[in-house]
Amino acid sequence: MKFSTKLPTPSKDALQHSQGLQYKIRDVIDANNGAISFRTYMKMALYEQGLGYYVAGSSKMGKSGDFITAPEISPLFSQCLANQCQQILSEIKADILELGAGSGLMAVQLLLELEKQNALPQYYYILDLSPELKQRQKETFKQLAPHLLDRIAWLEQLPTDFKGVILGNEVLDAMPVDVFTLHKDKLFEHQVIWQNEQLVEQLNPAPQALWNAVTSLKLGTMDTPYTSEINLNLQGWFKALDTCLRQGVVILIDYGYTASEYYHPDRNKGTLICHYQHHVNESPLSYTGLQDITANVDFSAVADAGDKAGFEVLGFTTQAAFLAANQLETFFMRTLEESPEKHYELAQQIRILSLPSEMGERFKVIALGKDFSNPLNGFSITDQRYRL
Ligand SMILES: C[S@@+](CC[C@H](N)C(=O)[O-])C[C@H]1O[C@@H](n2cnc3c(N)ncnc32)[C@H](O)[C@@H]1O
Repeated sequence: MKFSTKLPTPSKDALQHSQGLQYKIRDVIDANNGAISFRTYMKMALYEQGLGYYVAGSSKMGKSGDFITAPEISPLFSQCLANQCQQILSEIKADILELGAGSGLMAVQLLLELEKQNALPQYYYILDLSPELKQRQKETFKQLAPHLLDRIAWLEQLPTDFKGVILGNEVLDAMPVDVFTLHKDKLFEHQVIWQNEQLVEQLNPAPQALWNAVTSLKLGTMDTPYTSEINLNLQGWFKALDTCLRQGVVILIDYGYTASEYYHPDRNKGTLICHYQHHVNESPLSYTGLQDITANVDFSAVADAGDKAGFEVLGFTTQAAFLAANQLETFFMRTLEESPEKHYELAQQIRILSLPSEMGERFKVIALGKDFSNPLNGFSITDQRYRL
């Protein structure tokens, strides 16, 4: 992944599409007395109907897209996750619900593994905010596992009375965040305005809800300006998950930190970044709707929101430890026996999934249980709940 100040130039059509979305955002800015919060901007840039990054036609995940996620790197990732699901499903006879299934590759790989283990759930539900991705997920199943299509059910909203495993890989980082700057005893909200025919960021005194949330982080006084992000939607999201789940486990995988690392005084520019065709940049107001905007996840806040909604945190660890504890080596050896010529390719994949400098430690796994408290395989090597 390259960090770029100069991004590839989008096509004329893409630029027109982006301008259409910017004009729509301008109209919302006008309707809101000339300014919207960064969170509202991010929500529109990613999810505005027909125009936002995740809901319009660009290819996003994968080599030809903007960024690569673990299931796109290797099926070994999904096989390990299947191993974890199998343990839970063997204890409670239930289904799987995946949130934000992207290209659908993880769902395919995971179900193929469960099929091998004779442990297929009756249904694999998918809930995605993106109608365009839903189509792509269907195509992925048609191409790679058509015989499993009748087990897949696409949902428009969270179900009620669900029993089973809820999965979300890189979903939390795609949620809109507020951006704030703290300087001395003053707290500012980052807002987006329309000026000289373009979107511009401006700082204004933070509204009460943001002030309360940032105050609860106990950051202390910052002598130099300190910018970071916060997800004010987490508690509401977990309340919705609580209403949805009768019994089972929520497993969330993402890049992020515990609160003390996330809000470390040295991390004074926050974690917000954008991905455009595998170029990383820090210009979320550019290429609106054409590039991904993402913030790291504060896993302490996730645990806290889950706890407040009535979940029990069952485990927290690094992706490397979670995969190792879910038989990564066994799946590697099995694939190697089936296809010895893939030796180098597989070794590369394991390296990316597990090395601390790659995804191994930057990515974390958290599991939250409801009416389920048995120890989970994935946290048997290391469980770092104490760090949350
Ligand atoms: C970064 S992509 C990850 C895709 C896929 N899980 C993967 O690993 O390749 C984020 C996905 O989350 C979806 N998403 C974001 N917020 C969501 C929410 N609240 N509920 C369901 N899906 C959501 C987006 O539409 C998108 O498909």
